[in-house]
Amino acid sequence: MSVNVKQLAAEKAVEYIKDGMKVGLGTGSTAYWAIRKLGERVKEGLQITAVATSQASEDQARELGIPLVAFGDIDSLDITIDGADELDGKLQLIKGGGGALLREKIVATGSARMIVIADEGKVVETLGQFPLPVEIVPFAWEWTVAALDKLGCRTELRHKDGELYKTDNGNYIADCRFGAIASASELALALQQIPGVVEHGLFIGIASLAIIGHADGSITVLEGEQHL
Ligand code: A5P
Repeated sequence: MSVNVKQLAAEKAVEYIKDGMKVGLGTGSTAYWAIRKLGERVKEGLQITAVATSQASEDQARELGIPLVAFGDIDSLDITIDGADELDGKLQLIKGGGGALLREKIVATGSARMIVIADEGKVVETLGQFPLPVEIVPFAWEWTVAALDKLGCRTELRHKDGELYKTDNGNYIADCRFGAIASASELALALQQIPGVVEHGLFIGIASLAIIGHADGSITVLEGEQHL
């Protein structure tokens, strides 16, 4: 029987969730398994409250009976569990393949710990094979895309089902093909200088732990630093 590596990593991460914690729920096909497991543990009596990083994750959590709390009622989280599109050995991530990067970054940076869950195929030596998602405002998007291209990438505005893709926040996603990113932190700074950019999918110094699932059923845990 083949191993579901996403489920493997996700369920290991859920072991870090304890009674009384405030938890950030990630987005995507790996986070799906974490939310599912959390739902099971809540049914068994685990006492937590949670916030979600997307409408899809919020709907899943609600369906499973995971208690959700309003952002205005809390000021921080204990742990966020989320997937990634790529990660390197320094726990630098590319996120946003599912389009939820802005909410994901807000939630992860408001958490004492962010646990990244991924299958082994997501681990890379150097970030950049996966096109970097950048959330941009619709206003004058052509200028923003031109400014992104000037940073040395090939930019494509994301489409879904033949339509321009819109995020949960009503913005567009520009997928930027940089190839190998020599310095993720320098690129992050450059992206922040472009006015039409709302947020980018480089997560640097945010994740404190990565749990990687392998096809042979083993798990690797990579440690980083806590950041709150
Ligand atoms: C959502 O916007 C993303 O950041 C996801 O966390 C990322 O794309 C990983 O998704 P999968 O777990 O589906 O690969």
